[in-house]
Amino acid sequence: MTKQDKIQDRSNFKSPLGVEGFSELPGPIGIFDSGYGGLTILDKIRTQLPAYDYLYLGDNARTPYGTRSFDVVYKYTLECVIRMFGMGCQLVVLACNTASAKALRTIQQRDLPGLDPNRRVLGVIRPTVEAIGALTHSNHVGLLATTGTVQSDSYPLEIHKINNDVIVTSEACPMWVPLIENNEHLSSGADYFVWKNVKNLMDTDPLIDTIMLGCTHFPMLADKIKSYLPEGIAIVSQGDIVANSLVDYLNRHPEMDALCTKMGTTRYFTTESVAKFSASASIFLNEDIQAEHIDLG
Ligand code: DGL
Repeated sequence: MTKQDKIQDRSNFKSPLGVEGFSELPGPIGIFDSGYGGLTILDKIRTQLPAYDYLYLGDNARTPYGTRSFDVVYKYTLECVIRMFGMGCQLVVLACNTASAKALRTIQQRDLPGLDPNRRVLGVIRPTVEAIGALTHSNHVGLLATTGTVQSDSYPLEIHKINNDVIVTSEACPMWVPLIENNEHLSSGADYFVWKNVKNLMDTDPLIDTIMLGCTHFPMLADKIKSYLPEGIAIVSQGDIVANSLVDYLNRHPEMDALCTKMGTTRYFTTESVAKFSASASIFLNEDIQAEHIDLG
């Protein structure tokens, strides 16, 4: 099949969700999360790659994903990815561990070849586990994440592919995402839930010397988490790790880099209230953000 035939093929493409063919033109890098958490990743990526254009999509109307089944997280994530492709993204980063754990592989292996084999969807778990081995000295690592990510076992499985000696103890923190989505994460009410989960984790394995925040929302609770930990325990947030990994990816894939526009803009989309997203994201990123609404129904 010639390139022209392939272009023709894609332009006739109808996905199971009824979205017609995608533009071949370069576009913004898509950053996806169930809500606000991906902003912690976007922030670090933009610091390292300020020239690029970004399209952020928060599925706030359906957050949290962390307590939902595999099938539902996959369906929601695929809908969002397809919509981002439709808005011109050639490359989408799932800045959400739950979506990375439950949907990434199926989207990469089953959906992308039919949707558009030239587009790419990347996740956040693999780059995180690649970084973690170098950080722990005791080889005892703690994972704080959503229930979905913990139940998927993605972190221990991926870590053990690299280093079988690392002992991973996981603690699901189902209350943390709702606290952040409702902008209650700095309130005194949040302390109880942070204290409880951090204590559970450290009681289960007191030898832990490194804690992964395996949810992109959780860096917003980093100060509280730290205040309940003994001295000397490293807290690893994913922002810089994912940003480094994306820089490396674009260096290794100049054909994808050429498909990313570079005018230094960011557009924010939410499936929920524009006013609420704009207000909360402006606080989280410490800049004035005007979000736009998107309907996935
Ligand atoms: N930021 C998402 C993650 O990294 C939160 C998932 C949720 O909506 O529960 O897992």
